[in-house]
Amino acid sequence: MTDGREGPLVVTIDGPAGSGKSTTAKEVARRLGFRHLDSGALYRAMTVAVMRADIPEGEWDTLDREALSQFEVELAPTEEGFLVLVRGKDPGEDLRSVETTRLAPFLARNRWVRQNLTEFQRSALSFGDLVVDGRDMGTIVFPNAGLKVFLTASLEERSRRRLLQEGKPLDEKSIRQEALRISKRDETDTDRAVAPLKKPMDALEIDTTDLSFETQVVRIVAVALALTREATEK
Ligand code: CDP
Repeated sequence: MTDGREGPLVVTIDGPAGSGKSTTAKEVARRLGFRHLDSGALYRAMTVAVMRADIPEGEWDTLDREALSQFEVELAPTEEGFLVLVRGKDPGEDLRSVETTRLAPFLARNRWVRQNLTEFQRSALSFGDLVVDGRDMGTIVFPNAGLKVFLTASLEERSRRRLLQEGKPLDEKSIRQEALRISKRDETDTDRAVAPLKKPMDALEIDTTDLSFETQVVRIVAVALALTREATEK
């Protein structure tokens, strides 16, 4: 598919923690027949690799390009998207563990990590049209994307969704504790010097607090299709 630009069409979906970016991006990609790339999975995989190498957290900011090459994080194409590999293997449950989730933002502020993973993300374009989700997809990695979306939802709603996803109880105390974890992560992602989380200027912002999953997916797919239709009619 093309939107009249050179090369594949890219749809970026950015947003804060727990805003439903990955599940939305995956479904949007499926309906459009594009590949899905979850950039957060790359940051998680690099975090798993660094943790497995027993590098103390205090040294993460000093890791440079050369040090990073030893971790052997890779992207492998699958039918629908990409699999992240650490030393040639699927990192398994470690990828989504509570510890990885907590620590990933601290590694993600290292500029060499970002540069390295940005190259991976751009290389995914060689497989064709993409729906990518993350924090800096529309601002840094794919600034010329055909469609940029910024997903938000209230902190309480994001906490509820995260607990639901993890099969945890939805009582008030758990929601409050999860909200605290999420807002700490948002703070680290928003305050970092390199590629901070922010809404791309030309993004379509969708507040999903009161929207069903189906409605938000349909809305994004409709805009993407209109864009490609417009381009072919030109
Ligand atoms: O899905 P969730 O919002 O929990 O996070 P994720 O997308 O899996 O990303 C995990 C962490 O990786 C984030 O908290 C960010 O610190 C980092 N990340 C990033 O810095 N830039 C991206 N493009 C994607 C993720």
